[in-house]
Amino acid sequence: MDLEQVKRLDRAHLFQNYGRQELCFERGEREFLYDLEGRRYIDMVAGIAVNSLGYAHPAVTRTIKEQAERLVHVSNLYLVREQAEAAAAIASVCPQPLSSVLFVNSGAEANEAALKLAVKHTGRSRIISTRNSFHGRTAAALSATGQKKYQSGFEPLLSGAMDLVDYGSVEQLKDAVTKDTAAVILEPIQGEGGVIPAGSEFFRTARDLCDERGALLICDEVQTGLCRTGRFFGFQHYGVVPDIMSLAKALGNGYPIGAIVTSEDIAATFVPGSHGTTFGGNPLGTAVAKTVVETMRDERLDALAAEKGGRWMEQLDAIASRSGGRIKAVRGHGLMIGLEMGEDAKKLQALALREGILVNVCAGSVVRLIPPLILGESSMKAFNDVLESFLS
Ligand SMILES: Cc1ncc(COP(=O)(O)O)c(C=O)c1O
Repeated sequence: MDLEQVKRLDRAHLFQNYGRQELCFERGEREFLYDLEGRRYIDMVAGIAVNSLGYAHPAVTRTIKEQAERLVHVSNLYLVREQAEAAAAIASVCPQPLSSVLFVNSGAEANEAALKLAVKHTGRSRIISTRNSFHGRTAAALSATGQKKYQSGFEPLLSGAMDLVDYGSVEQLKDAVTKDTAAVILEPIQGEGGVIPAGSEFFRTARDLCDERGALLICDEVQTGLCRTGRFFGFQHYGVVPDIMSLAKALGNGYPIGAIVTSEDIAATFVPGSHGTTFGGNPLGTAVAKTVVETMRDERLDALAAEKGGRWMEQLDAIASRSGGRIKAVRGHGLMIGLEMGEDAKKLQALALREGILVNVCAGSVVRLIPPLILGESSMKAFNDVLESFLS
């Protein structure tokens, strides 16, 4: 089937709810994607921070094949060996007291579970989130998302339960957290909002206020988690440990799976019947998650992302300093990097595509670089060359 045929079928039979580019890929390997005509692209999008180990990673592919031959799905009415093993692998990379895992199927679902858990655990109903945040598209996750553009047409959602503060505003946070607050939910770096790091002071204040006032701190690590930012989890940049964190995206390296991780004590709030999902934690997904987490842990992908990302940021900073203000800021940690470029962002994206490099533009003006963590030096250089020629 060629591109025209795919386009025809897409228009005839799919919801037109995505602003899709006219590109269709047949296969991938490492940080490279190949389209239907066999053209190769360097992928700096990675399925939106999903394919962190790269495409067709041998250990992931082997796990999928072997597990699919054995057992794909079994109900949570029974013990699931792969689920228990994946949870142990996740616990092995988490700081104490994060040791109990509940598996779900996506990032939004992980945040739903985290919010429900916080409400039940504290017996309180109010949630504090931040403006410009993104937590997913289900009702509670969308309610916690501090961007009108995603909520418009669906209000009032659960907006009655949400209080928004400016991301980074310690003062607003101090006023907002009260004895009615069940949880504060924060991304360590706002991803969809434009690659904006929170800063240590904001995170530490959130931790202190939650401790003082009996609320729970939820870190949404859906995008930042699992080595993306050069640490295993984004919150580790700020020297705090949340009460609950949500994971998804990179956890399955493309296989859909999410999770929340919390302490044994908080996890005990959910008793049989409190929460659940048919597919959550199925043997195939959790076998993949175990392989992904163990590979990241054993191959020190956190250190690798920190080292590569640090070097790349220095190069991008140098290019920005010569750009005559066209690159207004270079932000991020590890291999989650944003170039603030105003209207140039979309133009650079188009040029990069012509040169065979895929980049994403978020928040309208930020070129977001979130490649597979295993990408090679030559791919980073290829992007730098395109950027320099764009600016010249
Ligand atoms: C920080 C964050 N939270 C939640 C989500 C939602 O995840 P999903 O699309 O898997 O529901 C995303 C997706 O981009 C995200 O970046």
